[in-house]
Parts: sequence; structure tokens; C-alpha cells
Amino acid sequence: MGLLSRLSKAQKRVIFGRFVLNWMPALSYVMVAVSFVWLLALPHQSYSKTTYVSENALLPGSANVQFNWDDNLAAEAYRDVVSKIAALPSFERAEALQLEFSKIGLRSATQNYTLNTSTDSRRGVNTYAVFYAPRSDGTEALVLSAPWTSRTLDTNTNAIAMLLTLGKVFKRGSHFSKDVIFVVSDGDAEGLQAWLRAYHGNEENTERRSEETLHVRSGAIQAALNLDFPGTGDYNALGVFFEGVNGQLPNLDMINTISQISEGIAPVELTLHDELVPYTENMTKNYINSLKKMLYMMKYQAAGTPTGNHGLYLKYKIDAITLHGIDRPDWPSQRYNLFRLGALVESAVRSLNNLLEHLHQSFFFYLLSGVKKYTSIGLYMPPVIILGVSFIFQALSLWGLSSDLPLELEAIDEGRKVAVALPYSRRSRNYKVPATVIGMSFVAGWASFLLLTTGFGFPGETPLLKLVASTGVCSMLIPPAVYTARIRSQILKSRKGKSKKTDSSSNETDLTPAADWILLKTFILALSALIVTTLSALNFSLAVTIGVVIVFPYMAFRPSSYSIISGVQALALMAISPPGLLTAGAWWYSKDISLVLNWVLEGYEVLGSWLLPMLCCIYWPLNLAAIVMVLLPVS
Ligand SMILES: *[C@@H]1O[C@H](CO)[C@@H](O)[C@H](O)[C@H]1NC(C)=O
Ligand SMILES: *[C@@H]1O[C@H](CO)[C@@H](O)[C@H](O)[C@H]1NC(C)=O
Ligand SMILES: *[C@@H]1O[C@H](CO)[C@@H](O)[C@H](O)[C@H]1NC(C)=O
Repeated sequence: MGLLSRLSKAQKRVIFGRFVLNWMPALSYVMVAVSFVWLLALPHQSYSKTTYVSENALLPGSANVQFNWDDNLAAEAYRDVVSKIAALPSFERAEALQLEFSKIGLRSATQNYTLNTSTDSRRGVNTYAVFYAPRSDGTEALVLSAPWTSRTLDTNTNAIAMLLTLGKVFKRGSHFSKDVIFVVSDGDAEGLQAWLRAYHGNEENTERRSEETLHVRSGAIQAALNLDFPGTGDYNALGVFFEGVNGQLPNLDMINTISQISEGIAPVELTLHDELVPYTENMTKNYINSLKKMLYMMKYQAAGTPTGNHGLYLKYKIDAITLHGIDRPDWPSQRYNLFRLGALVESAVRSLNNLLEHLHQSFFFYLLSGVKKYTSIGLYMPPVIILGVSFIFQALSLWGLSSDLPLELEAIDEGRKVAVALPYSRRSRNYKVPATVIGMSFVAGWASFLLLTTGFGFPGETPLLKLVASTGVCSMLIPPAVYTARIRSQILKSRKGKSKKTDSSSNETDLTPAADWILLKTFILALSALIVTTLSALNFSLAVTIGVVIVFPYMAFRPSSYSIISGVQALALMAISPPGLLTAGAWWYSKDISLVLNWVLEGYEVLGSWLLPMLCCIYWPLNLAAIVMVLLPVS
């Protein structure tokens, strides 16, 4: 018979309680370490697989390309035309381009739109044209789009010239089973967004936005390519941008198709984004390059604003990527001109034209550490889940601590008086302070969100002023919360002193409840676990970023009897609050705070990204509650 069987039920519970208390915190730190190591291992080549085209219908690069030398000359002529009309004001420019499209024999039109954000009013004019495929019934379409302004802020001359030329090329051929729509959009992202809203019949005419209805239409859009070829020169490499609004990703076969074409029919050097990395056999360098690439992707995904206009299609479940011409004169790879670019884009469109339905074979959830290296969801999800579980473990051990039951322990552990808790004790916990603090923090967070987005009837205020106001609203919560909690704790202490004197046969109700900070911290940790794990399914990179930022402060920080330590902890927590992060971001990119804030606001107002609501309504409240927590009395 072992020792365990001789112990009473209560004693077993105490032992289990002690085990939980002793080991769970340590275990949770081990899990954090495992999670971090796993995350860092993801870019290593033994964890990533080589991509392959899994949609059989695509047959990339198999069709003979029609784009010939005459078309190259036509493209060069169009380039001059586009350069000339690019200087005109929006409306004249759009009309001149529409005229060029109609000269080719395509049905074309323009679309006016206005978008009023909280800071400015934007109006612009899109041009679009439809090539009706002779063999199609008009139910399916592909889109080729190009914004007037490239991501390098130059005019997107080569891309628009390419659209015109391809219009001409497609008109000659008879092998299309889908219509092809050409869209040249004005503005940043709002132009294409207005066009897409109108195309899908949800154009709005309100105070905030007005969009002209489209006069020329086609069928359901199956896939789209957005071209970004700034200037009129040649390029060294081709960059693929693929992250959409809120971290949505296109089907991996979109990238695979381009990758296959760029290795065969139109040889160009392909890369992710606009970073070029030299080829190397050195494993260390290889790993660092992959890590960098993956971090770039995670940065773009976490930010939630698309890296190009392709991101807007993803909102309508249309797979799309942006192809960007990179010009680095010092780069050794072979340069390519409009001729090869034409072959590449035509070949890609012909591949997509082969599709019988939406892309569905390959992956929608992936991390890329190179154009041809992906990590699938099965490998990258576990570390975030482990991170979430480590929060839960910490919370559970605190939950045990919050039901204080030191009496039974003394029976086993004579001599040593350790306050050890029983998990799942029936003794009631006092939720007043933690619940109030959490509730108030969420109210403050939502108020700050409203303040930032509407300005409470002061729409003219600068974003920076609104941020200062929201920060004020949020920090106003901290002193009263801490003050009332301290008073309450003193009252409880004095009552405890009295009851000890008068009553010797202590019953359950006499036991003072655990310190407020313990329950508050339990709530914070449990909510953090919930947020990180839920978010990881929606936007993996944002979940990882938030998890990595909060894991140590939220797990390790606790009130101290030395107020200086509590103060330092509160300052550290303020540094990771949204205003703190914003300041850090502004410093990192050496930009003005109001520029960074404008970017976040624009993401929310123009593109509907969740970053701002997420930060204000979920992240900030927890941060506030954590600041209150470290300032609460120790007991
Ligand atoms: C579009 O806007 C231009 C001015 O920017 C205006 O002249 C034109 O009439 C507008 N078209 C429509 C249909 O509203
Ligand atoms: C946008 O703002 C401008 C002036 O700031 C105003 O004239 C216009 O009516 C507003 N709304 C729309 C939908 O254009
Ligand atoms: C690989 O690169 C690293 C870092 O640049 C360097 O320290 C290491 O010596 C290189 N290894 C080999 C085998 O060249």
C-alpha cells in the first residue's frame, strides 16, 4: 500500500493543490520557451516544403503565347501615350485612357467615386474595359488591374501600357473561355475598392462614400492579377505581393502558377515582396534569409492592411496577387523588358482561363519563407496554441491560489506554514474588484475607439489630438480603481483583525478572500489565452505578435510591496499599450506619430482592417487591467 492510499481525500486534494501551485507556473514558462523555439524553427528548411501546383486545370506555361515582337512595339507606343496622359487631372486622364481602350475595340467606361474619411475627402475616376471572350457565355471573368500610382509612388506606366497591349492581343485570339476585365484605378486603394463594390452591387451613396454604378459588366470574377510596373524602364526581378486585408491570403496556386511560368516560358527572377536575397549554399545564411522573409510576411499580415490592390479582391473571395517590377541596377540577375513581361502576364492569364471553378486545391493557410518554400498550417499553429495553453496554466495556478485554505496543510506539513491552496474549493471568491476593473477597462477601450474614429462630433480634430484624448480617457480609470481597491483591502484587514479576536471557531465565511490582484490576474491571463488562440485562426501573424509582446509581462508581473517595483512594472506595461506601441513604431520607421496613426486610421476607415478595433477594444482594455493589477495592494 502506498502512501497515497493512506491519505484522506482532503489531504490528497492538498497534495494535488500543491503540485499545481508548484509546477504549473514553471511548466507554463517551459511551454513559452518551447513555443518560441518552435516559432524560430519554422523558417528552417527542414520544416518548410517545396510548393507545387496542385490544381490540375491550371497547366501553367503550357499554352503558346501570342505576345509577339509587334506587340512589344505596340507596348512601347502605349507607354508613350500613357506617359503623356498621366499628367492630366483624374477625370481627363481616365477619359483619355477610356478612349484608348475603345480604339482597341473593347467596351469601356469610367467610374467616379468619392470617399470621405475622418481626415480628408478623396475623389477619383477609374477606367475599366471588358474583353468579351468569343467562346464564353459571360458568366465568368478574370481581372487584370493596375493602379495609376505604383507602390514606389512613380506612375505605373509600364503596367497600364501592358493592359492596353494585352487587350489588343486577347482581341486577336479566340481561345478564351472567360471574359477579361481591365481596370485602371485611381487613388491608393479606395479607387479599386469603389470599383469592386460597384461590381458586386453594393455601391453606396451616403455621406461617407459615393460610387457611380458600372455601365459595362461581365460575370463572376474568378481570379485577378494586379500589375505594378513603375516607370518606363526594364526590371531585374519580379516581386510577388499577396497579403490581403486582415491577413487574408490568396490560394497558394496563384503564386505557384507565376513561379512556374517565371521558370519556364518567361524566365525572370521571382521573389517575395521587394526584397532580393542572394542565393547561397551556406546553411546559416539560408536560415537567416528565410527567417527574414517569413518575418516580412508576418509583418504585412499582422498589420492587416494589404500590400497592394490585390488585397481588396480577397475580401470578395477572389484570389489575387500583385506582380511588382523591381529595378535594382546593382543586382546581377538578367534584366527583362516589356516583351518578357507581356509573355509572362499573358501566360498567367491563359492559365487562369483554364480554371473550371474557383481555386480550391492548394492551400489558403500558409507561411512563406521563400517563393517556393511554404510551411503549412499544421506546423505553424501548434506554437500559438502552446502559447495560449501556457497562459491557461498560469491562470489555473492562480485560480488555485485564490481559494486560500492553509488549515489542512498544516496537518501534513507540520512546522512549515505555507499558504497552499486547493483547486476547485467551494469557498466563494470575491469578484467585485476584478470584475469591475475588467468591465471598466473594456468601457474605456471602447470609448477610446469611438473617440479615435468619430471624435465625438469634433471631426475636424487631428488624429493626434484624438489619441491624446483617448489615452486620457483610458488612464483616468487607473487611479480611482487602484485607490478604491487599496481602501477596501485596508477595511478587510481591520475586519479580519477583529474577527480573530472575537471568534475562535472560524468557519468558512470568516476566511478573508484572496487578494484582489490574484483574481484580476487570473481573468487577464484567461482572456489573453482566449484572444491569442481565437485570433490565431483568423490572423496568425497578429496572434503571434500579440502573444509574444504580452506573454512575459502578463505572466511574470505582479504587485510588489516595494512601490518602485510596481511602478517599473506599470511603466513597462504602458510601453506595450497602444500609444506606447505607436510611439515605438513611429520611432522605428523614423516617422511622425501622426503619420503612423493616420495609417492605422486609414486602414480601418478605407479598407475595413480590424487592427484599430482589435487594439482599442480588446488589447487596450487588457493592458489597462494589467496596469491596475500591478498597482493593487499585495494582500
Ligand atoms: C465625374 O466627375 C467629373 C469631374 O471630376 C464630372 O465632370 C463628371 O460629370 C462626373 N461624371 C458623373 C457621371 O458623375
Ligand atoms: C464629402 O465631403 C465633401 C466636402 O468635404 C462634401 O461636399 C461631400 O458631399 C461629402 N460626401 C460625399 C459622399 O462626397
Ligand atoms: C556561413 O555564414 C556564416 C555567417 O555569415 C559564417 O559565420 C559561417 O562561417 C559560414 N559557414 C560556411 C560553412 O561558410
